[in-house]
Amino acid sequence: SNRKVVIAVDGYSSCGKSTFAKAIAKKLGYAYIDSGAMYRATTLYGLQNGMFDANGVLNAPKLIAALPHISITFRFNGEKQRNETFLNEACVEDEIRTIAVADKVSRVAEIGEVREQMVRLQQQMGKEKGIVMDGRDIGTVVFPDAEFKIFMTADPLIRAQRRYDELKAKGEEVDINEVEANIRQRDHIDENREVSPLRKASDAFILDNSHMTVEEQMIWVEEHLNRILSN
Ligand code: CDP
Ligand code: CDP
Repeated sequence: SNRKVVIAVDGYSSCGKSTFAKAIAKKLGYAYIDSGAMYRATTLYGLQNGMFDANGVLNAPKLIAALPHISITFRFNGEKQRNETFLNEACVEDEIRTIAVADKVSRVAEIGEVREQMVRLQQQMGKEKGIVMDGRDIGTVVFPDAEFKIFMTADPLIRAQRRYDELKAKGEEVDINEVEANIRQRDHIDENREVSPLRKASDAFILDNSHMTVEEQMIWVEEHLNRILSN
């Protein structure tokens, strides 16, 4: 069918949300948007502009005041065959994936003014539908009317292993305990913040992929898609 819908993929850190969301977008010929990359790029801006003190504490008023100077866009890199995140016209795709950014991002994502700016941009990107977006509040806040919502979860140790393998493959020197601690800390902050905490939307389908392969997930999603797209 030609019916274009919005697909929201939310859940805990390192569950495989982006891998899954990208695969669904590719299958349907939809756009894929990584909302976490926007919070990560905003965090990088704060790091580049001295907005964290020696103890790593964020100067929130300073970051809020700088929001009009933060522009985030996505562009497809044909050579690398990937979507890249741009912060004020500079490609920051690799930098935003470092542990230095992961360490600080949940503190930036707690700020209501930051979230307002990101949500506005995300809604703009999805207004023509035909989009798959992953994050923490996509089904609850960004697109509460999304036709298909998935809430992903997996065992924390399995998630840490997945993220560790990914960082190691990229050549980043990391300790698996550090990766696990970061995942647990971010999940805790994300679930307990006041503004748009990480929550399963009441109408979201839960997908626990602890013991599922990427291929098995595609089989799982297939029947849901068939039903939703033919409605
Ligand atoms: O890749 P990973 O699952 O580790 O995280 P991410 O999706 O890149 O998101 C990084 C951080 O941004 C999260 O831990 C949240 O603090 C924040 N975030 C958010 O608050 N809301 C979103 N829609 C997406 C990300
Ligand atoms: O976006 P999120 O942080 O939730 O996760 P991701 O960046 O997609 O990373 C998940 C990693 O787990 C990737 O390296 C996947 O190949 C792997 N994986 C998966 O996504 N799904 C499974 N069922 C098993 C492994």
